[in-house]
Amino acid sequence: MSFPQAVRDAWHMVALSRDLRPGSVRKVMLCDTPIALFRTEADIGALVDRCPHRNYPLSEGRVHRGALECPYHGWRFAADGACIAVPGCPAAATATDPRLSAAALRVAERHGAIFATLSDSAPAEPPLPPDFGNPDLDHFWWQQGTWQGRAFDAVENVMDPFHTGHLHHGFIRRRDKRLPVDLVVTSHGDGIDMAIEQTQPDLGLMSRFLERDRQRSVSRYYPPTTVQARWEGATRLTLCVTAIFTPASEGTFTPFARFSTPKGLAPGWLKQAAIRLFLAPVVAQDRRALARQHAVMTRFGHPQFTSGPGDILGNRLHRLWRGETLEPGQDDPVAAEL
Ligand code: FES
Ligand SMILES: [Fe+2]
Repeated sequence: MSFPQAVRDAWHMVALSRDLRPGSVRKVMLCDTPIALFRTEADIGALVDRCPHRNYPLSEGRVHRGALECPYHGWRFAADGACIAVPGCPAAATATDPRLSAAALRVAERHGAIFATLSDSAPAEPPLPPDFGNPDLDHFWWQQGTWQGRAFDAVENVMDPFHTGHLHHGFIRRRDKRLPVDLVVTSHGDGIDMAIEQTQPDLGLMSRFLERDRQRSVSRYYPPTTVQARWEGATRLTLCVTAIFTPASEGTFTPFARFSTPKGLAPGWLKQAAIRLFLAPVVAQDRRALARQHAVMTRFGHPQFTSGPGDILGNRLHRLWRGETLEPGQDDPVAAEL
């Protein structure tokens, strides 16, 4: 399909650990490929959702005796794809016959997240952004199913500060009372970040309740699918949100968000409840915007974007998405009102 090779070749988050209990099977979509994801007592397996025998969807099978069993003839597949049993043919050496294997993806489970890759050329480990597993922070995951829209447009949405006062009026910022800020863009070879420097906290509800002493916030894109936003007070991090947008199909994606806050300010459950309460309307607004945007792009055949004066990242996000690198360096600060 039309995913850049760099996207197809990457590690992608495919599920929360808590959503894949031992003995369970889930169908997930990854870059237009259906995957049967399952967990035995010992392992996690991610098999392309096609039984090699007669093409039954393996995701409709069950975990049985430490393997995924196809519903049609009962062949059983281990997490590495090897066919370990063909019912009725007990003498057959199935596991050593690669023709009988299901196609298996590499899988890694880290910090409550399950990652998989369709490619042999992906690195040995899924790359994780800073503080992803930092034990000095409280972390929680938030997941809300699969959304309409393109994963890339979701990346652009969270890297774009100009919609926050308008689409999220009252929640994040206010469209009627904009504040002066400096936007500072720094290109890294393999990513880009935008810092928002301001002397006054935002006037939206979220800032008033969730952060006291913000001095700057930085959003950094870790291609192809991860954006991490960090809010920093005078002395330390106050909130870190890592958003991962897994491409499901050309027009759908599965977002995962990990919230990290310093331990000790308030109990973890209270912070989680507050963040969910204030962010739920914001998330719903973005979800609707991405779906509406995608419907129009589909109607008109392909995206046609005009870069306006606020689009200071230019095409750099898209170049990174396609696997290109950027010349490192910092842009001159841009004065704006957000
Ligand atoms: S189709 Fe899967 S075992 Fe036959
Ligand atoms: Fe948004």
